[in-house]
Amino acid sequence: MDSILVRGGRRLEGRIPISGAKNACLTLMPAALLTDEPLTLTNAPRLSDIRTMSALLESLGCEVASLQDGRVLVVGTQAIANHRADYDLVRKMRASILVLGPMLARDGHAVVSLPGGCAIGARPVDLHLKGLEALGATLELRDGYVHASATDGLRGATIDMPMVSVGATENILMAATLARGTTLLKNAAREPEIVDLVHCLRRMGAQIAGEGSATIEVQGVDRLRGATHPVVADRIELGTYMLAPAITGGDVELLGGRRDLVAAFADKLEAAGIEVRETDAGLRVSRANGRIRPVDVVTAPHPGFPTDLQAQMMALLATADGTSHLEERIFENRFMHAPELVRMGAQIEVHGGTATVTGVERLKGAPVMATDLRASVSLILAGLAAEGETRVARVYHLDRGYERVEEKLSACGAEIERIREAA
Ligand code: EPZ
Repeated sequence: MDSILVRGGRRLEGRIPISGAKNACLTLMPAALLTDEPLTLTNAPRLSDIRTMSALLESLGCEVASLQDGRVLVVGTQAIANHRADYDLVRKMRASILVLGPMLARDGHAVVSLPGGCAIGARPVDLHLKGLEALGATLELRDGYVHASATDGLRGATIDMPMVSVGATENILMAATLARGTTLLKNAAREPEIVDLVHCLRRMGAQIAGEGSATIEVQGVDRLRGATHPVVADRIELGTYMLAPAITGGDVELLGGRRDLVAAFADKLEAAGIEVRETDAGLRVSRANGRIRPVDVVTAPHPGFPTDLQAQMMALLATADGTSHLEERIFENRFMHAPELVRMGAQIEVHGGTATVTGVERLKGAPVMATDLRASVSLILAGLAAEGETRVARVYHLDRGYERVEEKLSACGAEIERIREAA
C-alpha cells in the first residue's frame, strides 16, 4: 500500500485546477441506465471510484468508453444484460446502490447487494428503499440483496423524506423520470451534485423542476434519450485545496472554483482570517501573516457546512489561536482523523458528536494512518504546515476521491511525494 510523504513548512503559492465532482459523476453514470442511447460525460474526474462504477456498469451489460485520458466517459446501455449488482463490486463503493432506481425504472426489476457500512458509519439505505416503494416497487431483502420489481412499471407519488439524504434523493429522482405521472419529492437534498444530476436528466428529456430547493417535482416521461453533459466542479476538492494556502500561509488560485459551491465553507474561512477572492479563473485564497482565528463549525446538509470538509477544517483549526468546536451532525463516526492529528501534536478532545480543538502554534510531523477518504487528505493538509516529515499510510483511501494530489500540491511548492510500496 502506497504512502504519501510530506515535508512541512513551505508557503504554497500557485494555481490548482479543480476536477469534475466525484459525487456528481457517481450518480450521472448510473443515469445512463435510463436510456438505450449513449450518455457522454465530459470533465470527468480520474479516480478509482469512477473506475469502480465503470466496472459495475459493465457487469450489468453497459459499454463504458473512457476517452481523452479518462476525462470523457461515454456510457451506452443498449440493453441491460444482467440486472444483478454483485456484492463483491458493491462492497467496494456504497454509491453502487444508485444503479437500483434506474434499473427498476428502465426494466421493472433489479437485484442489488446491500452496500454494508463503512468506516464513517452504518449508512443504511432504508430511505432509498422506502422512496422506491412509494413509486410502486416491491422490494424484498434476501441474502444481503435487495430484490426489487415493478411489473406494472413505476407510478408517480408524493414522497416526504423523513431526513435529508443525498443518495436517496438521487435514486428516487432517477426512478421518477420514467414513472407514470407526477412525483413530488419533499425534504429533498439540495447539494450541487443533485442540481447537476437534474441538469443532465433534463438534457436527456426528463421533466423536472425545483432542483436545489427542498421540493423537486418530476413529470414522468415514456423514454429518455442520450445527451452530453459536463460534470460540475468538485466542491469538496475545491474546499480541500482552499485549505492548502490557508494552513501554510500561502496564496493559491483554484481554477474552476466557484464561491456558490462552497459558500458556507468560504464564510467560515473568512471568519478564521483567510482571504477568499473571486477571479476570472476561479477562487484565490490567501492568508497574510498572523495566526488563524478559532471558529465553531456544525455540519449540515447543503447549503450548510459540508460534512465532507469537516476533517480538513479540523486540521486548519488545530493551529488556530484559540479553541474551536466542530459538531458532526451527519455521520455517527467521522472523527477518526482526530487521534491521528493528536499524534502530530494537535490538542483535540472528542465527546460524542463534538470535537473541541485547542490550537497549537505548530504541529509536528509524524507517521499517521489514513482511515477514510476525507480523513486522509486532512492529514496531508496538517503535514503541509507541520514541522518536519509526515508519512500518511494507506493512501488508497485518498486515490478514491483526489486526482493526482501530490502533483497538484507540489506544483504550488509543497514538498510531497508518493512512496510506492509492494502490495
Ligand atoms: C453522499 O453520501 C456522499 N457520497 C457522501 O460523500 C457525503 O458525505 C454524503 O452524501 C452527505 O453529504 C456520494 O455522493 C457518493 P446521505 P450518502 O444519504 O448519499 C443517513 C465522500 O467523502 N441515511 O446524504 O450516502 C446516513 O447514514 C462521501 O465523498 C439513512 O439513515 O449520504 C447519514 O447519516 C462520504 N438512511 C445521513 O443519512 C438512508 O437510506 C446522510 O446520508 C440514507 C442515508
